[in-house]
Amino acid sequence: MKTYLITGGAGFIGSNFIYYILKKYKDVKIINYDKLTYAGNLENLESVSDNPNYTFVQGDICDRDKLNAVFEKYDIDYVVNFAAESHVDRSIKNPEIFVTTNVLGTVTLLNTAKHFWTEGDDFKAGKKYLQVSTDEVYGSLGKDGYFTESTPLDSHSPYSSSKASADLMVKSYYDTYRMPVNITRCSNNYGPYQFPEKLIPLVINNCLNGRDIPVYGDGLNIRDWLYVEDHCRAIDLVLNAGRVGQVYNIGGHNERTNIHIVKTIISYIHDHVNSSVDEKLIKYVQDRKGHDRRYGIDPSKIKGELGWYPETKFEDGIVETIKWYLDNRSWMDNVTSGDYQKYYEKMYL
Ligand code: NAD
Ligand code: TYD
Repeated sequence: MKTYLITGGAGFIGSNFIYYILKKYKDVKIINYDKLTYAGNLENLESVSDNPNYTFVQGDICDRDKLNAVFEKYDIDYVVNFAAESHVDRSIKNPEIFVTTNVLGTVTLLNTAKHFWTEGDDFKAGKKYLQVSTDEVYGSLGKDGYFTESTPLDSHSPYSSSKASADLMVKSYYDTYRMPVNITRCSNNYGPYQFPEKLIPLVINNCLNGRDIPVYGDGLNIRDWLYVEDHCRAIDLVLNAGRVGQVYNIGGHNERTNIHIVKTIISYIHDHVNSSVDEKLIKYVQDRKGHDRRYGIDPSKIKGELGWYPETKFEDGIVETIKWYLDNRSWMDNVTSGDYQKYYEKMYL
């Protein structure tokens, strides 16, 4: 029986991970610790809220006292740190909160786990801290090549730089204290429950509302899309079987240009929902500052050591994803009410 502390579990990947673990294991206890920022939404977890193996605690990963109370109350075995400010555009406008949550919060969490997990200088058996990081820490690729675990860190945005800083702190806890840690670095995720500030749900939402679709620059930037369930499977494997102190890259082998993504979504909505939705909605807008050109992951290490590979082809995953948003229009309406409109207007209008 393992007890998981999942931080940021009310966000996009965290909530998918909680569903994944509760479905896969019957003998687990999950503590979801989340501050509930604009990106955290308990509606994501409504169907497990009564599950006896699941508990929600509202809290900030920067709050040492609250974290102490959680570790006092529960004998935590695994920490999986999803909690973060996660959107590049917001980090360009307001970098400070990214340093607070992503760097200081990570250190506070690491330090609390270390305190409760050590007897003298030794860590108790069966404990692990997993930091969910991003391929964006490696910077940007040209036409060729892939990110491997030994690609030097060369982050550009305040978001990716805060994640790279956090990664170095996690590494330092392994190098200095031999704390049992892993870092996973994944590519762009897509799937259910993603907040519509990110490309895919934003495009779906705009299509459904007949709104212009903002495409940054020439639309030819490339991301390597990873279906969120494939990502959850990889995290579970690394947590249980990854070698301590190691970094694992997790990538979808699904590189697509942004404009390809946008046109794919428009075409699906045109054919299945509303034939008046077409490519006239596309609006090329000013490029993002410091916009990374291409991300592409080489996942050979996790494939070779843990047998993981991305099972979902983009063409299948995107249809599943669009269908989910179509079937959950009230979820989209709820998360886009209130402050979202202000954000959208400031950002795009
Ligand atoms: P998200 O923005 O959807 O969710 C983040 C969650 O963290 C929210 O529930 C929010 O309330 C919570 N949170 C924020 N600040 C907090 C704090 N100080 N204390 C406690 N909780 C806090 O993010 P996501 O897309 O689910 O990403 C999860 C993790 O995966 C992040 O660490 C992100 O950097 C990383 N990641 C995401 C992607 C992606 O494509 N979404 C790709 C690579 C890496
Ligand atoms: P995003 O979903 O913000 O993820 P990230 O920046 O972390 O990769 O953006 C994905 C790509 O889509 C990125 O190249 C920026 C681009 N983009 C647009 O062209 N228009 C948009 O409205 C958004 C949100 C992103």
